[in-house]
Amino acid sequence: MKIAVVGATGLVGTVMLKVLEERNFPLTELIPVASEKSVGKEITFKGKQFKVVNMETAIAMKPDIALFSAGGGTSLKYAPLFAEAGTTVIDNSSAWRMDPSKKLIVPEVNAYELSIDDKIIANPNCSTIQMVVALKPLHDKYRIKRVVVSTYQSVTGTGVKAVEQMMNERKGILDGPMAYPYQIDLNVIPQIDVFEANGYTKEEMKMIKETRKIMGDESIRVTATTVRIPVMGGHSESVNIEFENDFDVADVKSLMEKTQGIILVDDIDNLKYPMPKDAHEKDEVFVGRIRRDESMPNTLNMWIVADNLRKGAATNAVQIAEFLLQKELI
Ligand SMILES: NC(=O)c1ccc[n+]([C@@H]2O[C@H](COP(=O)([O-])OP(=O)(O)OC[C@H]3O[C@@H](n4cnc5c(N)ncnc54)[C@H](OP(=O)(O)O)[C@@H]3O)[C@@H](O)[C@H]2O)c1
Repeated sequence: MKIAVVGATGLVGTVMLKVLEERNFPLTELIPVASEKSVGKEITFKGKQFKVVNMETAIAMKPDIALFSAGGGTSLKYAPLFAEAGTTVIDNSSAWRMDPSKKLIVPEVNAYELSIDDKIIANPNCSTIQMVVALKPLHDKYRIKRVVVSTYQSVTGTGVKAVEQMMNERKGILDGPMAYPYQIDLNVIPQIDVFEANGYTKEEMKMIKETRKIMGDESIRVTATTVRIPVMGGHSESVNIEFENDFDVADVKSLMEKTQGIILVDDIDNLKYPMPKDAHEKDEVFVGRIRRDESMPNTLNMWIVADNLRKGAATNAVQIAEFLLQKELI
């Protein structure tokens, strides 16, 4: 089992290596891949040193699986070349997510869609992944009509440069390299990715479209406001969900507690609720503040937190790879 990690020197790639190591993924050969500037750099994996190679070298080595997190342009250009060489690509960028011929997978929700013919599999947007893990069991039980989500997203969602910008600002360095159009430390930026013609950002439209595709239900109405905040441990989301059927809050809590991949943290008497500080470096999705929306019938409010580099990216991709192996789909 040869595994290529494309973007191995980046934020997601680094976590990908950590997750493969922690979960003891049964690989026999690791191929770390990055841009030309990183070729030859050494990566440590399970105590051994591996040299970073470029794309062409990696394709020639014919990996069984390539975990891509090196940007959309790189995926568009290289994923098909890996696929032609017989590699199954699991791609973290947005390049293939809405392509009708590609599956968009969150294992807890729709891994059953995967087949041996899927050679490029898309990993959804980080803020969408954590939300659908919680939405799916609720949709199955109460039928979701509409979702209103506002996000509070970590700077790690933007990559290495954004973390550097925030850390520089914390030290009073205000003229360093900028990942955002404004200072992020001590600030909140209501823009993630570029604006589209309808006034929504691309990130907001990703949440809307990807949620429907993963849940396999185009009738679910979704609206989103995505916001960057000066935090590192993970993304948080305030989610308002209107159902067709009524629910009992205690049943919702119990359903969340029983759902694979979710940890319920909902004990307001003891001031327990999910926070990015606690979700950091965890693979699960944390759910809390579950309460009835008293302004609307059949409507619920909840708070969802996850480490965007873990469940929002690396862990989800590795779980897809594990599923493929388990079901002998590669
Ligand atoms: N951060 C998140 O929460 C998150 C979540 C889901 C998905 N994603 C997606 O994952 C991707 C990477 O994000 P990141 O946050 O890890 O970014 P990052 O920290 O900036 O890392 C980018 C990685 O891509 C490599 N790379 C860039 N151009 C390349 C090329 N032409 N050929 C080969 N490798 C190349 C870089 O190598 P060098 O070091 O050599 O430049 C680096 O390893 C993006 O598509 C992003 O949208 C990110």
